[in-house]
Amino acid sequence: MQEGAINRAVQDIFKAKKTIVLTGAGISVESGIPDFRSEQGLWSKYDPEEYAHIDAFRAQPEKVWVMLKEMMGLIVKAKPNPAHRGLALLEEMGLLSSVITQNVDGLHQDAGSKKVIEFHGTHRILSCLNCGLKREISMFSLQQLPPKCPNCKTLLKPDVIFFGEPIPKEAYAMAYYETQSCDLVLVIGTSAAVLPAADIPRLAKAYGATVAEINLEETSLTRQVSDYIILGPCTTTIPEIVEMVKAQRE
Ligand code: APR
Repeated sequence: MQEGAINRAVQDIFKAKKTIVLTGAGISVESGIPDFRSEQGLWSKYDPEEYAHIDAFRAQPEKVWVMLKEMMGLIVKAKPNPAHRGLALLEEMGLLSSVITQNVDGLHQDAGSKKVIEFHGTHRILSCLNCGLKREISMFSLQQLPPKCPNCKTLLKPDVIFFGEPIPKEAYAMAYYETQSCDLVLVIGTSAAVLPAADIPRLAKAYGATVAEINLEETSLTRQVSDYIILGPCTTTIPEIVEMVKAQRE
């Protein structure tokens, strides 16, 4: 069954004038960064209401930094995996227009993807909610976390989008332009549980695009929006697709 879906994805990539990708935490799990809603996901350990809402950060930044520090510790050690690298190769072959990612780990860029739209921000920049100062996280060691603003001593916040915060304007605009102008979207490693990111496949479909999911299991999109799903770990399925695309191009 998977071979059929994989072959279909290869043909769709060749047929498409413009292919985009929407990725979620599932693409980075095999790089050592847990996702959120699977069995061992981050939200099984930390209640998102208490650790991932902007009001929680404003009320108790030290407490939220306990979870942030754990995530940062995993992100700094993480390396791109064959799924990230496969998408970078597709872009290099001129067969992928952009990656819209909900992830903040920077692994798509590390894998060589050039056009990456960080829909939920990035862990790499820290901002002061009090005086607006910004700093690269690379200026701090893990021991110095949580980092204080050198200006006003307030605890800095990573530029990741917490629940209750708006999507960065430029990322939103670019993502919606890509979504409305593509004719294939590969939805990889996301439960499609969080809006507005989860709207992207629906919107692409409404604009006539084919929607193909790559996931370990079905999601809320599978029977309502997706044209088909490729079940299996993306570090296996994506390289398989890319190898077949490469072979067909030669
Ligand atoms: N290969 C393919 N899919 C995988 C793999 C894998 N190796 N491992 C996990 N998955 C799938 C899971 O089956 C699940 O559908 O990845 C998805 C991860 O879903 P979530 O944990 O909900 O992560 P995500 O969809 O990225 O969450 C969206 O929610 O908490 C917020 O801001 C956070 O960006 C995040 C958003």
